[in-house]
Amino acid sequence: MLVDKSLKKCYSFLSSLKHKKGGKMNFLRDEEKGFNEMKKLRSEVEPRMKTLVKEVNINSLQKAVTRGIEIIARTLLLLQLRKLNIHNNTDPGHGVGHWIRDLQNALRFIPKLNDIDPKELFVGLVAGALHDIGCGVIPRYEEHRRVVRHAEAGALLLLDLFNKKKLCLNEAEQLLICYAIAAHTHYLQEKEVNGRIIKPYKDTINGRPFYPVWIPRWIDRLDCNGPYFVIRHYLTLHDHHRDFCSEQQKFYEVDYFETMQPRLREKRTGKKTMLEHLKMFMDSQNNRSPYGKWDRGVYIELRENYKRKLNRIIQAVLHPEPIDEKKTIVAWRAALKKAEPINGEKAAEKLENLFRSSLNKEAKLAWLSGFHTTILEAAKLDEEIRRDIGMHLKEVQKIQKIFGIS
Ligand SMILES: [Fe+2]
Ligand SMILES: [Fe+2]
Repeated sequence: MLVDKSLKKCYSFLSSLKHKKGGKMNFLRDEEKGFNEMKKLRSEVEPRMKTLVKEVNINSLQKAVTRGIEIIARTLLLLQLRKLNIHNNTDPGHGVGHWIRDLQNALRFIPKLNDIDPKELFVGLVAGALHDIGCGVIPRYEEHRRVVRHAEAGALLLLDLFNKKKLCLNEAEQLLICYAIAAHTHYLQEKEVNGRIIKPYKDTINGRPFYPVWIPRWIDRLDCNGPYFVIRHYLTLHDHHRDFCSEQQKFYEVDYFETMQPRLREKRTGKKTMLEHLKMFMDSQNNRSPYGKWDRGVYIELRENYKRKLNRIIQAVLHPEPIDEKKTIVAWRAALKKAEPINGEKAAEKLENLFRSSLNKEAKLAWLSGFHTTILEAAKLDEEIRRDIGMHLKEVQKIQKIFGIS
């Protein structure tokens, strides 16, 4: 059992949940219990993925989208009504701002996937929009010590919620959505943690992609690309934490001053700068990578569009033009708050102090240029999103209202 401060805080928050003694939420206190719940979920889904999909009650692409949005809204509303307060407990890189963008990004490409079974699209859309709710119950950067991580916690949390039968989802739909949420953390190999083995999730059937699992990953990756990835990553710097390097498959310590040095080294040893982190993510977005190997059609178009935006930001940091410091700092702070409306402001304040007090002149000049370009690129992207999801804009706004944001 972990005794870490942030986990203690999380546990005390959980103890306030209105769950009866022995309720399913105990999986968070007792990892063994959670691990066994996950084993059960996996054993119920993995051997019969195809059969479960046949039971999904969707018969058209349009229905997949409309019913998907409805289920997402009802799930989030129900979580709110249960006063779980999950959205207030996320770190600022994985909060409501990310959840809403996930839904918006999903609505940019899912309605265009005419050649994928709409039953699979329905599961992918719901799981994709809800994939990170577990970040509200598991501190993100404590994950390396756990086997029940944010993805699994989100899955188990919703399994518990769906068991109460308030959302008109049949059993197959419940199992598939929860499985897809757990599987969004894309493990490439087995990992051993505290004597337990985390196994990669099953994501193919007979060598073909199982889209209910891949679509949430696609959705998540669009927010790990483009201008909002810059904002999200920057927000995570408000505190010392460990970040994960997928190239080396290990965690490393992140420090504001070091990471903000505008360096892009050919050969790195040890820690990465923010610029290197952004470039690493950008470069991994392709069909040769294990993460992008099933990317296709309209998704590739979006992926490449976001990459171009991200690349322009990287270039703006590497080749800075002089920018009005005062104006840019004010605009940047507003952009951080807008991108993460619940937890962004506090982090933005802290980051502003760090920016002013700890950076050298070269780093300031470079990043002011980077911030400026990120703001412009985010505005362009917002416009593209509005254009693409037009008919669903109102539904998205209704979901935002659940959290008191617009
Ligand atoms: Fe996640
Ligand atoms: Fe995510």
